[in-house]
Amino acid sequence: MITKIGLLGYGTVGAGVAQIVTQEQALLTQKLGWTIKLVKAVVRNPQAQRRFTPPEGLLTTEPDEVVGNPEIEVVCELIGGIEPARTLVLKALSAGQHVITANKALLALHGTEIFEKAQEVNRCVMFEAAVAGSIPIIRTIREGLSANRIQNLYGILNGTTNLILTRMSKDHLTFDSALKEAQQAGYAEADPTTDVMGYDAAHKLILLTALAYGVLPKMDDIHIEGITQLEPEDFSFASEFGYVIKLLAVSSLVEKETIEARLQPVMLPASHLLAGVGGAMNAVMVRGNASGDIFVSGPGAGMMPTASAVVGDILEVARTTRHSHSDHRPSALGWRSLKSEMIKPITQTSAPYYLRYAVIDRPGVLSSISGILGRHDISLAQVIQKGQNPQTGTVNLVMLTHRAVFGDLSEAVKETQALEVVKGVHLIRVEEFN
Ligand code: HSE
Repeated sequence: MITKIGLLGYGTVGAGVAQIVTQEQALLTQKLGWTIKLVKAVVRNPQAQRRFTPPEGLLTTEPDEVVGNPEIEVVCELIGGIEPARTLVLKALSAGQHVITANKALLALHGTEIFEKAQEVNRCVMFEAAVAGSIPIIRTIREGLSANRIQNLYGILNGTTNLILTRMSKDHLTFDSALKEAQQAGYAEADPTTDVMGYDAAHKLILLTALAYGVLPKMDDIHIEGITQLEPEDFSFASEFGYVIKLLAVSSLVEKETIEARLQPVMLPASHLLAGVGGAMNAVMVRGNASGDIFVSGPGAGMMPTASAVVGDILEVARTTRHSHSDHRPSALGWRSLKSEMIKPITQTSAPYYLRYAVIDRPGVLSSISGILGRHDISLAQVIQKGQNPQTGTVNLVMLTHRAVFGDLSEAVKETQALEVVKGVHLIRVEEFN
């Protein structure tokens, strides 16, 4: 018996998939009980340099040689982007093929359409490689933790930003120089917008939220902040308070039927497991009501880690399609139908915050600022002042607040920004773990 696979795209990940399927054929056959065979891979330019030389005759420029080819049972979409990926995925499902994809943006933005189509035609959509590279977090939540009500989920889901933040924190680099270094090392893209603005991690958060709670949020439902505004002083002050700054994806069940979903740089205690996840690593912590806390960490990107997840899905689809009742395939998200629970607006959430004001050092400044904060119900837990900027003559007035409602805090901060002595303000949420 043979399960025949077609690839859409033969870039870095496609080459990694071909490498594993070719070089580890005996191992995969031993595990599965039959053989996986790559039949065709659709590419734009068959002459391009490849990181793993494709077997003779594998490459084609014709999508129809994969999508809708009755010989091919499973299609791996490794092109990325929305179109033509979306159209090809829907076409493959309609043609009765199972789909594996590493495309987080596609599923986060068009998941409803794709998952509904898969259910309608009774085919699998697998996407382990779309979130946190080689970490088997999709399967962990969908299957391993399926007995649980998930209470909260925290993730470091973008390797590029985690590498930048690690360098800023440990080696006091500015954002610009840490980014340049990450680009030179081949981690960050030439256009890093998707990573540094948080969109890539937000796409992954949408998928994890759907798996955990059966709710597929829209991008607009999620509070998304990137890391471009962070400055070296923020890392020094964080360290002084015993914190580390991480770009954290959070989705929590905060009240019955209400979820908080946000992606933002936060300060977390230096002793927390997630604080120790450095460099380009990814990690996820999930709390189930029965399981307790689960923590997984590993490479979140790269040729072989991502290919590891894709080939894992290939084997799983092959097993599922052979062994499970053909009228009832497992649903992609682990929920037979999605719910429409409310995502709590960020303005209604509350947490302690770090505020760093750049102010003119003059009598009465602290009381003007704290007066405004107080009128908005923001209570201060700690205040320090130091570090005169020789260029601007401003000093850093740094505050940690008690828990504050974000809507109130935003109003207060806006009001303080209008003070003539205030030249800038930075605000970072302090993450509380219960
Ligand atoms: N660019 C992503 C990262 C990997 O740096 O983690 C793909 O989602």
